Amino acid sequence: MFNTLKSLCSKPKAFEKTTVADLWTDPHRATQMLSNHLNPQNDWSSRNHEFINTSVNWIWNYFDLGSESRIADFGCGPGMYTSSFAKRGAKVTGIDFSENSLEYAKSIAQKQSLDITYHHMNYLDFDSNDTFDLITLIF
Ligand SMILES: C[S@@+](CC[C@H](N)C(=O)[O-])C[C@H]1O[C@@H](n2cnc3c(N)ncnc32)[C@H](O)[C@@H]1O
Repeated sequence: MFNTLKSLCSKPKAFEKTTVADLWTDPHRATQMLSNHLNPQNDWSSRNHEFINTSVNWIWNYFDLGSESRIADFGCGPGMYTSSFAKRGAKVTGIDFSENSLEYAKSIAQKQSLDITYHHMNYLDFDSNDTFDLITLIF
């Protein structure tokens, strides 16, 4: 009896019940996560719009990017950086395993006619032979 009670009260081992991926891909959490990403009032999922614009400007100028530049964003989420780079004329690839964030990102790219290719995949499975050359960025 003691052993049964002990096992019922024991804490699960880390990641025994859920994985880190569940944080992003579980449908309920992913919905909450997307709304946090898109909320300009908070800075703890995506950074605020001003920060994103300032970062993209800095990267664009520092690496002397232009319309021939190809940029890959690993963990692009709803595509706030990918969209911003594409608006400046770069050819952009976004990679993420959150389906609903990617759906949102694709809808924005379509509405705004932005040249962005999105891949639904775990970026840890990315094969460097498929490299998107010139520059890769991780946010
Ligand atoms: C904190 S959010 C940032 C999203 C975006 N970069 C931004 O700043 O707005 C992290 C993103 O990385 C994605 N992510 C985390 N681990 C990943 C993995 N192993 N493969 C693909 N995407 C991943 C999540 O789904 C999520 O969209």
